[in-house]
Amino acid sequence: MSAIEITGLRKSFGSLEVLRGIDLRVESGEVVCVIGPSGSGKSTLLRCVNLLEEPTAGTVRVAGAEVTDPEVDIDAVRRRIGMVFQSFNLFPHLTALGNVMIAQRKVLKRGKEEAEKVARQNLARVGLDDKMDAYPAQLSGGQQQRVAIARALAMGPQVMLFDEPTSALDPELVGDVLGVMRGLAREGMTMMVVTHEMSFAREVADRVVFMDGGVVVEQGPPAQVIENPGHERTRTFLSRVLDPAAARVGEIDRDTGKDA
Ligand SMILES: Nc1ncnc2c1ncn2[C@@H]1O[C@H](COP(=O)(O)OP(=O)(O)OP(=O)(O)O)[C@@H](O)[C@H]1O
Ligand SMILES: [Mg+2]
Repeated sequence: MSAIEITGLRKSFGSLEVLRGIDLRVESGEVVCVIGPSGSGKSTLLRCVNLLEEPTAGTVRVAGAEVTDPEVDIDAVRRRIGMVFQSFNLFPHLTALGNVMIAQRKVLKRGKEEAEKVARQNLARVGLDDKMDAYPAQLSGGQQQRVAIARALAMGPQVMLFDEPTSALDPELVGDVLGVMRGLAREGMTMMVVTHEMSFAREVADRVVFMDGGVVVEQGPPAQVIENPGHERTRTFLSRVLDPAAARVGEIDRDTGKDA
């Protein structure tokens, strides 16, 4: 049984078809990095997995349970799936500890003592032992994102979904967050990660999935997809992310229609 099994997934917003038939499996303990140009449907794909978006067609199974079953208990599904976004969305009036406790208390109905114990364990797990009592405004972006990761982990998810977790961070803060994610991967957490961090994908991913125009164009081990892509679209995308200066030239080119 796969940890995540996506079959024939389609999603339209009005007349715009954003996902055009996605078939994808993520095995238990596997780290899959999803890459692709802006607008290719990466976020929508993750959002369909935890039902933040309702798929137009197709099925999604998480740990064998069909989350797209109309009868499904959405809250039970979401408890199984941890999600980390680009924006951390911490409560400003709660400390790091309070932020990691609140969903455990409200959603899982854990008692105060247990919620606090689990919160402390998970804040330690993301390297924030010394920031338990700090408020978000007293934390760096990287530390806030690690609180958000601890908050998701405290719910005991079976899979973790990350949507560009480092793209809002100053470059010097990216490493700590990626380090935490690397640790989770080593612990055997099943992870689906949308990222532009090619070095992370190269090093940590078991598999890289390249999406463009709402379809999976190619997938395989990072050495294959990143170093030796089989499709022209993948090569074009990679040359842009691996060499941002060339990307800017490409944009000027597209806008003016002239040689840049
Ligand atoms: N709620 C929505 N309503 C209408 N259109 C949407 C909605 N959400 C996404 N879209 C459209 O779906 C397409 C795919 O969006 P999505 O956010 O999945 O792309 P992405 O690959 O995550 O891009 P990026 O790298 O910029 O985050 C885009 O054209 C977007 O405008
Ligand atoms: Mg996105």
